[in-house]
Amino acid sequence: MASGGSGCTATAGAAALLSLVFLWLLQASAGAGAGADCHFPAVFNFGDSNSDTGGLSAAFGAAPPPNGRTFFGMPAGRYCDGRLVIDFIAENLGIPYLSAYLNSVGSNFSQGANFATAGSTISRQNTSLFLSGFSPISLDVQSWEFEQFINRSQFVYNNKGGIYRELLPKAEYFSQALYTFDIGQNDITAGYFANMTTDQVIASIPELMERLTSIIKNVHELGGRNFWIHSTGPIGCLPYALIHRPDIAAVKDKVGCSVTYNKVAQLFNQRLKETVARLRKTYPDAAFTYVDVYAAKYKLISQASKLGFDDALLTCCGHDAGPYNFDPKVGCGGKVLVKGKWVVLGKSCDDPSRRVSWDGVHFTEAANKFVFDQIVGGGLSDPPVPLRQACRSKGQ
Ligand SMILES: *[C@@H]1O[C@H](CO)[C@@H](O)[C@H](O)[C@H]1NC(C)=O
Ligand SMILES: *[C@@H]1O[C@H](CO)[C@@H](O)[C@H](O)[C@H]1NC(C)=O
Ligand SMILES: *[C@@H]1O[C@H](CO)[C@@H](O)[C@H](O)[C@H]1NC(C)=O
Ligand SMILES: *[C@@H]1O[C@H](CO)[C@@H](O)[C@H](O)[C@H]1NC(C)=O
Repeated sequence: MASGGSGCTATAGAAALLSLVFLWLLQASAGAGAGADCHFPAVFNFGDSNSDTGGLSAAFGAAPPPNGRTFFGMPAGRYCDGRLVIDFIAENLGIPYLSAYLNSVGSNFSQGANFATAGSTISRQNTSLFLSGFSPISLDVQSWEFEQFINRSQFVYNNKGGIYRELLPKAEYFSQALYTFDIGQNDITAGYFANMTTDQVIASIPELMERLTSIIKNVHELGGRNFWIHSTGPIGCLPYALIHRPDIAAVKDKVGCSVTYNKVAQLFNQRLKETVARLRKTYPDAAFTYVDVYAAKYKLISQASKLGFDDALLTCCGHDAGPYNFDPKVGCGGKVLVKGKWVVLGKSCDDPSRRVSWDGVHFTEAANKFVFDQIVGGGLSDPPVPLRQACRSKGQ
């Protein structure tokens, strides 16, 4: 009995000691801020075509084939031959590809929703999609959609139940989720395409930052705590931008990108980084990660051949016109009427995996994968936390 008893005590003591050690290890890894992954059960995304997984397609006509050919085997609401950076983010976090909020058929929002639409801007557009090509779903509209999404999804989850519990997020996911933003490219091009001068485009940046700040504040008020914010890419390396404003494209760097466009993109990003830093100070309860997507994209474009890609400015899916295989009148999948028959002119190249530019505006899946691989580890982030630890980018 006695020996049994003491054996028992010894075991209990050892177990207690073990659990203490375990607790200490847990605390140490949390305190050090390194190592342990965050728990992101959902992703809510805001943006433009760089991260649109079906929003514009749902409302304004589907992205035509050959979009989607590489990965989905059919058009999948993306302006790409396959996956976007946001798709690789979802994969990495173990979350299904995000359904577009506007897509009412076959969507599953249990682990997030995507409010991005191609052509979206931070500022409201005074023109129409049909006139300018820019989406009416500007960032403020996306934030109203999000607000309704919370209210309505929770009402339906709680009151209708049934299948909706499989299709809508749990209440606690809204504070645990990662909120991703990739927007601004179209604000710069919209200015230039409306014939603004560079000084005028630059002068519009502070207001863009104010709008972005107020929308992020709104999302924070609605419960968002983890923010992952992409910088805008080197717009001056995109065929459509170069073709639209030959005057702005005149002076090129040694890679063939417009110096002026890229300077403005970098200025926008400098302000964006400062804006994110201010938000981090304002909300010490939230994590804000600024991600230098520009650097990843410019690295790919400037070292394309070394990285196994062809001419980085040559469009894969387009129409043989000019130096970039980009025709602003006939896009990827674009058709023309020849003797009463529709003929596809905007065809894909044979091997999109060797191209950077898919359609003169957007990257190929292979290029998106490269960008994702550059940013996932945190090497291009401020603060330098990896994607899976982006709940740790908090202020002091
Ligand atoms: C739209 O018009 C308003 C009022 O004239 C102006 O303040 C705003 O900058 C315009 N927006 C864009 C994107 O041009
Ligand atoms: C969401 O619900 C809250 C509380 O009921 C309400 O104050 C808010 O106006 C609602 N927002 C929307 C977009 O319906
Ligand atoms: C929706 O997605 C979740 C996983 O994110 C899955 O568990 C659920 O079965 C899906 N529901 C339907 C109806 O497809
Ligand atoms: C911009 O200027 C060009 C060249 O002068 C002109 O053809 C085009 O219509 C103008 N675009 C807008 C939106 O004013």
